[in-house]
Order: sequence, then C-alpha cells, then structure tokens
Amino acid sequence: MAGAARLHQRRRGTNRPIESASSPQPRSPEIAMQPRVLSGMRPTGAMHLGHYHGALKNWVRLQDEYDCFYFVADWHALTTHYEEREVIGRSVYEMVVDWLAAGLDPEQATIFVQSRLPEHAELFTLLAMGTPLGWLERVPTYKDQIEKLSDRDLATYGFLGYPLLQAADILIYKAAFVPVGEDQASHVELTREVARRFNHLYGRSADFEHQVAAALAKLSKDDQRYFAKQKRAFGETGLAEPLAKGEALVQRAAAGIDGWTAQQTELLLGHLRGAGRSILHEPQALHTEVTKLPGLDGAKMSKSYGNSIAMREEPAEVERKVRRMPTDPARVHRNDPGNPEKCPVWQFHKVYSDKATQDWVWQGCTTAGIGCLECKQPVIDAILAEQKPWRERAEKYLSNPKQVHWIVETGTERARTVAKQTMRDVREAMGLLY
Ligand code: TRP
Ligand code: SF4
Repeated sequence: MAGAARLHQRRRGTNRPIESASSPQPRSPEIAMQPRVLSGMRPTGAMHLGHYHGALKNWVRLQDEYDCFYFVADWHALTTHYEEREVIGRSVYEMVVDWLAAGLDPEQATIFVQSRLPEHAELFTLLAMGTPLGWLERVPTYKDQIEKLSDRDLATYGFLGYPLLQAADILIYKAAFVPVGEDQASHVELTREVARRFNHLYGRSADFEHQVAAALAKLSKDDQRYFAKQKRAFGETGLAEPLAKGEALVQRAAAGIDGWTAQQTELLLGHLRGAGRSILHEPQALHTEVTKLPGLDGAKMSKSYGNSIAMREEPAEVERKVRRMPTDPARVHRNDPGNPEKCPVWQFHKVYSDKATQDWVWQGCTTAGIGCLECKQPVIDAILAEQKPWRERAEKYLSNPKQVHWIVETGTERARTVAKQTMRDVREAMGLLY
C-alpha cells in the first residue's frame, strides 16, 4: 500500500522526517528531533484486551522512539454515538486511565482530548470547502459501517465527514506517522490526498519561484546540483529514494546553515515534490505488527458483542469468562479429541502462551489428553499476570483523579501550541488574514 512504512525501517537517526522549526517549544532537543506520531481512539466504552493488543501496546512501544501525540477522539465518537452522550462523558477519563495503566508515560507522550482543541474543527471546516464529495463517499469504511451499525442512523453529515475530521486531526500536527489498523488505512490515504490537494491549491505564493531561488542560493553548488538531481529523479520516477535523499539534504541545510528559516525548509520540500510550498505534510500509515486477539467467542472482540474482557476486569470475572469460553464443538466428551484451529481458546494461547505450552495444548487437544478447563488455565494465569501492573498503575491514578486531569491539561496545551501554529499557516495560505 502506498504510504505505508514499517516500524523497523524507521530507527532513530535514519531518514528523519520533517520537523518544522515552527513546531512548539521542544521539551528537550532530543525529543524535538523525533518524528511525530499521531493517533486517536474513540471513547465509546472501557478498553478491553483487544484494544490493548491491537493498538495500545504498540502506542506504548512507539513513545520511546517518536514524539507521540495520542488523543481522545470524542468528536469521532459522537459521529456514531450522538444519541448517547453519557457513554462518551463516562469514557473519556476512563480511557486515559487505561492508557496510563498500560504504560503510556505522560512525560514522553502528549495526551489530550480532541474537543478541547477547536482548531481541529476549524481545519476540518476549511478542508471541507475543497474536498470533493466523492472522495468521502468512496471511503470503504463509509458504506461498511452504515451497514454494520444498522441500528444507528448514520445518514448524517457528520458521519460522512468522519475521515475528513480524522485528516484534520493528523494534518494539524504535521504528523509523520499514523499507527492505525488495516481498517483505517483508507483514512490515512485520504489524508494524504487532502494534504496534496491543499498544497496544490494554496501552496504557491505569488513570488514562489523567486523564494525558491533565494533558498537554493544558500546551498553550496554541489548541494544545488545534488538537489536538482534528486528532484528530477523523483519527478520522473516517483520513487521514495530520491525524495528521501532530497529531504535529507533540506534537513541538513535547515540544521547547518545560518539564517535558514523554517519557511525555506517548507518551500524546498514543496519544490522537491513538484508542488508549491508544502504547508500540510502527507503522513504515512505505520503498520506495525499488532497481535490480533479475537473475542471470547472467536468473533472480533467488542464490548457490544458481549465477548470482551476489559483491561481492568476483576480477576474472578476473568476466570469466569475464560472458563465459559466455547471450545471446539467436536469435544463433547472429555475423551473426544479436538482441533485447536476450531477453538477460540487456541487463539488466546497464540497470544499468551510460549512454545512449550502451545505444544502441550496441541498435543493434549488432538489426543484428548487434556480437558478444556485444564487447557484454559494457562490463559487465565497469563491474562491475570498481564493485568497486574495495569491494575496497580490504574489504582494510583484512580485515587488521584486530579493528576489525570493535570496530565490531560498539560498535553492539551502542548498540542494547542502546534495546532495554533499550523492554523496560522493555513489561514495565511488560504488568504484569510484580512
Ligand atoms: N478513527 C480512529 C478509530 O476509530 C480514531 C481516530 C480519530 C484517529 N482521529 C484519528 C486515529 C487520527 C488516528 C489518527 O480508531
Ligand atoms: Fe480448545 Fe483447548 Fe479444548 Fe482443544 S483442549 S478444544 S484447544 S480449549
């Protein structure tokens, strides 16, 4: 898929993407150099193990290596849950507690709430002006979700705009990477198209050519030739390599040339791509290996299907739920052999058990050597062990709600600095500075 990047190719220091100098005051120079990652989750209920293994675990991993912005997408929740404001209100801080419990470190990651930043709505509105209706109607999740969530009326303006609001979330922070599941890949793709279109429509200032020439003149002759070569190669082939090389050169110039401005960085990056100034940055989807943990019945884990285990589910409840999990229907009696591939418990073993335990399951199941309750015990133990540190951390935060509010407050203000700067650039580019 275009625009996809694999985590392991993105080590610190290599091919470092654009960090515009118009970004907020860095917390430390080290962190400011890290490419930005942005992702959000909808507060529609307690987080469960499926969320943890499918997304949150990855968020925690990314925070060491990237400048991570994670937010509660409460407006996105409203697109489907506009008739149930209680759910959202209840879930916002609960979800943040789950994030912190899972190991998100507020010192490293910026945690905030979407609706606290009206700038997202402003960008959404401005982008909406030039976004063709067909682009939104054709996003695969659109018809999909309308069909799946047939108990809700999703023939709304807000729901059609869902991916465009998401695009605004991403573009407002000039995020380099967006960790999302496969189901959201089309939204990142749309975001890229929206950014490209915006830059195309508004990225060319009146004296663009003149400004480009002035910026290029600051480079050495060799660098000028090298840049021209990469630009030509990218224009002809569209390959990522010349683009990355050209971008690296611009970043070196930004870091090393006295009097170089952030605007010149933007200008040359835009020029390199053959567009005008790149005001909004095209993000890349970050597909990391995530673990798929199905629900207790083998279908997708979802609170609304009643097949989930909450991250902070009580131990007795965990035990009860796993013990009641359906198994291979062929194992009616204790001495009927089974096939793990037909059993959701096996899917849990694939996530939670080591090789030795998995071998024990496979052998025991197919020969009727073990019973299903016996088979489930290691899963129960592993879930309880996994939850233990979550529960401990969560308790600390739950007993001090002010601290959680403070974390969100700090994150929101940090995010606001970036969002405001982008909006200034956007308004200027669109000619809204009367
Ligand atoms: N649509 C995402 C989801 O349902 C949530 C989301 C909203 C998001 N805005 C985003 C994810 C921006 C990544 C980036 O999971
Ligand atoms: Fe499933 Fe384990 Fe029972 Fe086999 S023994 S059917 S894998 S629970």
